[in-house]
Amino acid sequence: MNTDTQTVLIVGATGYIGSAVVAESVRQGYDVIAVTRAPAKEGQFPGAEVAVADVADPAAIEKLFNRKIDVVISCLATRSGLPQDFDDIDYKATLNVLNAAKDSGTNKFILLSAICVRKPDLPLQLAKLKMEDALICSGLDYTIVRPTAYFWVFDAQTKMMAKGRPGYIIGTGDQATSNPIAKEDLAEFMVASINNSERRDRIFILGGPEVPDNIITYKEALEMVFESMGKPAKIVSIPRWVLMVVIYSTSFIGLFVRKVGVFSGFLKVVLYYLENDMRAPGYGSITLKQYLMDTSREIQT
Ligand SMILES: NC(=O)c1ccc[n+]([C@@H]2O[C@H](COP(=O)([O-])OP(=O)(O)OC[C@H]3O[C@@H](n4cnc5c(N)ncnc54)[C@H](OP(=O)(O)O)[C@@H]3O)[C@@H](O)[C@H]2O)c1
Repeated sequence: MNTDTQTVLIVGATGYIGSAVVAESVRQGYDVIAVTRAPAKEGQFPGAEVAVADVADPAAIEKLFNRKIDVVISCLATRSGLPQDFDDIDYKATLNVLNAAKDSGTNKFILLSAICVRKPDLPLQLAKLKMEDALICSGLDYTIVRPTAYFWVFDAQTKMMAKGRPGYIIGTGDQATSNPIAKEDLAEFMVASINNSERRDRIFILGGPEVPDNIITYKEALEMVFESMGKPAKIVSIPRWVLMVVIYSTSFIGLFVRKVGVFSGFLKVVLYYLENDMRAPGYGSITLKQYLMDTSREIQT
């Protein structure tokens, strides 16, 4: 290991953003430790060391800090939509990491949050806000990044549309606008914050490039998917009340069946994102249109 370079420990390393952050940290020349909950596959994190640890166990996390860790980047997030899981992972498990970092003399903590915390309504946002507060009060140098929508949110529909199915919107599909951000641009911003004094002790709301191709409503995004496939747009509108009925019924069944509860939590987040504006100051260079062209080409070949 090169002792002159800083060591960056990344939790949530296997996630959509976490894995991009690991790759970017390696690219920027840091010594990187990717923390996973299960042993990593061979070649999963080229150039990085892997440490397996249970983030819910403070003792296991403490062990990670038996060596000098200069910077922590947290991309931890629950994969379920249940209120308790948000509190357990997005808040308590992330707090375990923060506490261990603080006790061991780590210099800096970079936290991946979400743009939607500025209008908190869901357990997801409350858990993230608690974590942001804990970090701000910790005394550690910090940077909090609140990104807007990610590109993957269109992936499921893109695959279905490639098979000839229509794209689905709720209501008119133009209730909210966003400038989504590529995981590579977001990861670059987060890692470049490590040694940037202008990003110290600040919260950044971050979107992708603010160009016409990337400032879009959900309906426009689906039209762009069809365009990227060279197909005429076939879009079906589902009335909002239908989604509300599904949310209320799955919410009730979810009290007894975990899987249904998770699905219901997911739908609530989807509805929130469809109805609340997600415009943010622009960063990076990759647009949704570019991403969709690449994805469609990949799917079609
Ligand atoms: N989707 C959007 O458009 C959007 C927009 C703005 C902000 N955000 C926020 O961005 C954050 C990261 O998103 P993402 O898409 O990168 O998340 P993700 O792909 O779901 O990754 C979550 C990470 O947390 C880990 N994790 C979850 N539960 C765990 C547990 N019980 N124990 C240990 N590790 C656990 C996962 O590990 P495993 O791989 O082992 O499960 C994974 O590494 C989320 O907080 C989200 O709210 C999302």
